[in-house]
Amino acid sequence: MKGTIAVGPGDGIGPEIVAEGVKVLKAIEKKYGHEFKLDYFDMGGVSIDKHGTPLTDDAIETCRRADALFSGSVGGPKWDYPGAKVYTNTAGLRLRKIFDVYANLRPAKVYPGMEGCSSLKPEKVKGMDVIVVRENCGGAYFGEPKKQWTDKGVRWAVDTMLYSEPEIARILRVGFELARKRRKKLASVEKQNVTETGKLWRRMAIEMSEKYPDVELEHVLADACTAWLLREPTRFDVLVMGNLYGDIISDEASTVAGSLGMGSSAQLHGLGTDEEKPWGYYESAHGSAPDIAGKGIANPIATIMSAAHMLEYTYKLKKEADAIDKAVARVVLKARTADIMEKGMRQVGSAEMGDLIVKEIEKG
Ligand code: IPM
Ligand code: MG
Repeated sequence: MKGTIAVGPGDGIGPEIVAEGVKVLKAIEKKYGHEFKLDYFDMGGVSIDKHGTPLTDDAIETCRRADALFSGSVGGPKWDYPGAKVYTNTAGLRLRKIFDVYANLRPAKVYPGMEGCSSLKPEKVKGMDVIVVRENCGGAYFGEPKKQWTDKGVRWAVDTMLYSEPEIARILRVGFELARKRRKKLASVEKQNVTETGKLWRRMAIEMSEKYPDVELEHVLADACTAWLLREPTRFDVLVMGNLYGDIISDEASTVAGSLGMGSSAQLHGLGTDEEKPWGYYESAHGSAPDIAGKGIANPIATIMSAAHMLEYTYKLKKEADAIDKAVARVVLKARTADIMEKGMRQVGSAEMGDLIVKEIEKG
């Protein structure tokens, strides 16, 4: 198989962890006889420094020509502060919108042996394996009006949580389809007690569930969901929710599962079922961690697993994706980066973690 991947390393720890993701992709190429052309582009602060904007038209063109987008994380105090002309994260948000990658799949699972990394008691998280399906192109992130203004000396700001029926339908469908392929449990998360979007969301989830009699649907209020994830994370399988809740709850889920450094993500234009184009934008869910940038200690697993999602969803290379997942599972039994370090393990940096995963892939 031949493919073209647009790679945007970004800022902070971005370039370090993306390098490990690329290392793993190269190992997959070699072992399974694939060929991935990598087209690098600037995004975020690095792009502001070089071109005066977080994302240039050229960069967007590079992405358009590729089958998939693979990126690090962007931002840092140099560029992002109240009053800055433009925040670095507008790069990623624009790419989400341009390519309409409305379904953001964010898995949070506990690898055997890593139960002790959670801030919860190990027995609470043992076997935790959830996927947050986050609506990625609408809701409070993009709804208009969205602005700040001053009226009679008083400053105001507004964001708008706006959802249309087709937007809710397509993300719910991804939730149901995914649940059907997994343990057949779907939690639909909203705030129907206070928001109109939540009321519509719940009504549509109930309507759609008629088409998925094999999937057990439960409705969970977003605040209660954060509590349930702390109390009993193993009760969930697939959780589907709006953009803002998904941002917050996916961070919680990956932290409960062990570390933000394990939080991968696949942003998809649908699941590739039906008529939809399986466009994908793959990046870790965590940030650019400027405090540890350049030290070579960041956990590259979220990015490496995001590369695995790319193989699975964009290239339909499930065997190769599973090979990466299995390699990670074996490596974390003995070696850990600082964020997931536990007694009895060998502490390694980003590059060594990447090397160990590559070795396991080679062994097969
Ligand atoms: C994420 C990030 C982004 C978001 C930021 C960087 C804009 O937190 O991907 O979860 O809020 O979506
Ligand atoms: Mg986030």
